[in-house]
Amino acid sequence: MKIGVLTGGGDCPGLNAVIRAIVRTSEAQNSRVIGLRNGWKGLWEPSPMDLDQKDVSGILHVGGTIIGTSRTNPLKSPDGADRVLKNFRLLRLDALIAVGGEDTLGAASRFYDMGLPVVGVPKTIDNDLYGTDFTFGFDTAVSIATEAIDRIHTTAESHNRVMVVEVMGRHAGWIAAYSGIAGGADVILIPEIPIDLDEVCDLILRRHSRGKLFSIVVVAEGAQFSEKAGEEGKLILQERRQDEFGHVRLGGISQVLAKAIEHRTKYETRFVVLGHIQRGGTPTAHDRVLATRFGVHATEMVHQGDFGKMAALAGNKIVSVPLSEATSQLKTVDPKLYELAKNFFG
Ligand code: F6P
Repeated sequence: MKIGVLTGGGDCPGLNAVIRAIVRTSEAQNSRVIGLRNGWKGLWEPSPMDLDQKDVSGILHVGGTIIGTSRTNPLKSPDGADRVLKNFRLLRLDALIAVGGEDTLGAASRFYDMGLPVVGVPKTIDNDLYGTDFTFGFDTAVSIATEAIDRIHTTAESHNRVMVVEVMGRHAGWIAAYSGIAGGADVILIPEIPIDLDEVCDLILRRHSRGKLFSIVVVAEGAQFSEKAGEEGKLILQERRQDEFGHVRLGGISQVLAKAIEHRTKYETRFVVLGHIQRGGTPTAHDRVLATRFGVHATEMVHQGDFGKMAALAGNKIVSVPLSEATSQLKTVDPKLYELAKNFFG
C-alpha cells in the first residue's frame, strides 16, 4: 500500500514518535509511506516526501514534526475538496493518516464522507478532543507548566507576591487544571467554569489572612475575565483576525488579571505567559509511548481497511472510534476534577 501521512494544526511533542511508528509498522507490512508537508497544505499544493526507516531514525525524542504543520483548512475555498481529492489520486495514494486535533480531524471526517480512505490520530496539548481519554502532547505540556509553577513558587514566596501564570487552553482548561493541581495553585481559572475577580481576590485575601503572604494563580488563556458575579465574562485577545478555521489568537488574560488583582488587593502582583514553551521540545516518556501506540494502531487500521475512524485511548486500551463522533463536540474539563481542585484554593 502507499500511505500518505500529514500532521495538522498546532504542533505538539510526540508528532515525530507517531510518524516513526507509522513508517516502521508500514515497512513491516511492505507498505510505503509518503509525508505530505505542512498539514492539509500537503494535499492542496503537494510536495511529497518519501519516508523510510532512515528518515525516521533518531526522531523519537525530538519535538515538532519532520513533515511540518499548518492551520490550512482545505474546505475553506469552494474548489478545496475537489483539489484535495484530485491530488490524492494523482499521488496514487491508497490511504491517508491525518494526525491532528478538532480542526484537522474535522476536515478528515468530512473527506471520509466524500470517499477518502482516511484514519485519524488524536493530537493536541489542550487534551480537548472528544472520543479519547487523553491526547499525546498533553502530558508534556502539563509537565512543563508544572515545572514552571514550581519555579515561580520560590520567587513568589521570596518577594511576597501574587504570581499569575497563563497556560494554553483555548476552549478547555485541562492544562490549567492539571498543572494547577500538581503545582499547588491557590486559584485556577478555566474557560468552562467562570470565576469573577471578586472571588479570586477573596481567595487570595483569605490565604493572606492565614499568614501566607504569596499566592499562585493559574489561568487558561481561554478563561473569561469578569469583574463581578453575574457580569458577562470577556475573552482577552492578542489578535482579532481569525485563522482559516475561524479561531482568534488568545493571550493576555494573565496581564489583565494581575493588574486587577494588584489594584483590588494592594498586593504586588506579576504575571508570566508560558506560551509556546509548552508545545516545544522533547516529549515525556508517557507521550512517546502513547504516540507510538496510536501510530501503530492507526497503521493497523489502514491495513485492515478500517477507515473513517480515529485511534483513541479508552482506559489503558487503544481502540478505534468514528471520526464523526470524535469531532462532534469538545471534551471539556470534568466538573468533578475542578471541584477537587477547589478544595485547595485560598
Ligand atoms: O490548539 C492548541 C493551541 O496550543 C491552543 O491552546 C492555542 O490557543 C493555540 O494552539 C495557539 O496556536 P498558534 O501556535 O497557531 O498561535
